[in-house]
Amino acid sequence: MEKEGLPEYSRSQLALRNGQDRPQIWVAYNSYIYDVSDSRLWKNGLHYEHWAGQDLTEELIDAPHSDTVFLKFEVIGILKG
Ligand code: HEM
Repeated sequence: MEKEGLPEYSRSQLALRNGQDRPQIWVAYNSYIYDVSDSRLWKNGLHYEHWAGQDLTEELIDAPHSDTVFLKFEVIGILKG
């Protein structure tokens, strides 16, 4: 997937897309930001006790699935260092 040229977002910009404050629901994983707004499983930003709008890279270790769950979602940006 081509990821060059994507917009960069800060953690505070990401935090606004937590499913509560704005219509968009975003999740960061391994520096990429995914738009999960269309997922039934991220309704209102909550996914099995995990809130969207943040970097959930380390939390994936506790999930019953791998990162292949992200394949069907579009990368919409890069999380700023
Ligand atoms: C202990 C916590 C978690 C549980 C119990 C859980 C459970 C699930 C289940 C049952 C599914 C649907 C079946 C599947 O695709 O395997 C799913 C999908 C998904 N999970 Fe998790 N998950 C957890 C944590 C996480 C974390 C931390 C992330 C992000 C880093 C994440 C991201 C996703 C995504 C993006 C999907 C796909 C949603 C869709 O297809 O609409 N999950 N999860």
